[in-house]
Amino acid sequence: MITGKICGTGSYVPPHVMDNDDMAKLVDTNDEWIRERTGIARRHVAKEETTSYMAGQAALRAVEQSGIAPEEIDMILVATSSSETIYPCAACEVQRMIGAVNAAGYDLNAACTGFVLGFNAAQAYISAGMCRTVLVVGAESMSHMIDWTDRSTCILFGDGAGAVLLRAEEDGAPVWTAAHSDGKKGPALTGLSRHRRDWNLEEEDKEAYIHMDGQAVFKFAVRKVPEIIEEILEKSGVSADEIDYFILHQANRRIIEAVAKRLKTDISRFPMNLEEYANTSAATVPILLDEMNRKGMFHEGQKLIVAGFGAGLTWAGCLFEW
Ligand code: ACO
Repeated sequence: MITGKICGTGSYVPPHVMDNDDMAKLVDTNDEWIRERTGIARRHVAKEETTSYMAGQAALRAVEQSGIAPEEIDMILVATSSSETIYPCAACEVQRMIGAVNAAGYDLNAACTGFVLGFNAAQAYISAGMCRTVLVVGAESMSHMIDWTDRSTCILFGDGAGAVLLRAEEDGAPVWTAAHSDGKKGPALTGLSRHRRDWNLEEEDKEAYIHMDGQAVFKFAVRKVPEIIEEILEKSGVSADEIDYFILHQANRRIIEAVAKRLKTDISRFPMNLEEYANTSAATVPILLDEMNRKGMFHEGQKLIVAGFGAGLTWAGCLFEW
C-alpha cells in the first residue's frame, strides 16, 4: 500500500503576544476565569503578518526540515477560513513563497477541522497514485474574525500557521481516516466571509464576527471526538492502548480532558499547547505536531491519532504512523 509519511514539519506564530491580563484591559474578564474555563494563558496575535505570510513561513520550515526540493512538491493544500484574500488562494501564495513551481494548490475551509480534512485528502491523493509529495498547511488570522468587545469569544482565539510535508512511501504503514459533518447544527458556530483588518464596524455589522453557542459546541466536541476516535480504532483494529499520542484540536483544555476520560486513556497521551497559543483553528494540530517533532517526541513507527472539530459542524480524524 502506498501511504504518505511525514518528512518535514514547520510552524510560525506572530511574535506579538497578548496574555490574559491584556485581555482584561479590553473586556470584563480575568486571568483566573480564562485559565480555569479554557486552559489558555496567552495568544499570539498578528500585527502586519497575513494568513498567507504565516502559511508560507510554516511551509518554508517544513520543506527545509524535509530536505526535499520545493520543485518536487505536487500539491499544496491550505486549510484556512481567514485568508486575507479569497483569490489568489493562500495555497498559490504559498507556492510562490516556497518556489514549488510544479505544484497545484487550493484552499479548503472547514474551520477548525480543516487541517485534518486536508491531511486525509493528501493521504487519498498519495494512495491513489495521483501525487507523491503533498504539503498540507493550516493557517489562520482569527484576530480578524473576532469581536474584541465580546468576552465570550475574543479570549479563546489566536493566530498562527503549521505545515506538514507528506511523501509517498511504497509499502507504507496503513492510514485510517474518518470524517463527518452535521449542517443542521451550523448555527451553533458562525462567521461571515469578510476580512475586516481596516474596517470600523457599525453595531449592526457585528453579525460578521464569530458567533458561538459555547456550551453547544462544548457538548458536541466531548461527544463526537471520542466517537470518531473509536470509529477509527474499530476500522483499524488498533486499540487505544497502542496509540502513542492523541493530537487533538486545541480549543479548550476541559474538552481534551473530557475526551481522555471518555476513552479511559491517560491525559499524558493528549499533548496540549493551548496555554501558549489559544485556539488557532485549522492551525492548532500542525503547530502542535511541529512543536512535538522539534522536541524529539516522535520516533519511527509510533502510532498517532489526529482529530479536529469545529464549525459546520464538522469533525474528522486520522490514525497514521510516524
Ligand atoms: N470572562 C469572565 N466571564 C465570562 C467570560 C469571560 N471571558 N465569558 C463568559 N463569561 C461569563 C458568562 O457571561 C456567564 O456569566 P453568567 O453566569 O453571569 O451568565 C458565565 O461566565 C458562564 O458562561 P458559560 O458560557 O456558561 O461558560 P462555560 O463554562 O460554558 O465556558 C466557553 C465558556 C469557554 C466558551 C466554553 O463553553 C467552551 O470552551 N466551549 C467550546 C468552545 C470551542 O471550543 N469553540 C471552538 C470550536 S472550534 C471552531 O470551529 C472555531
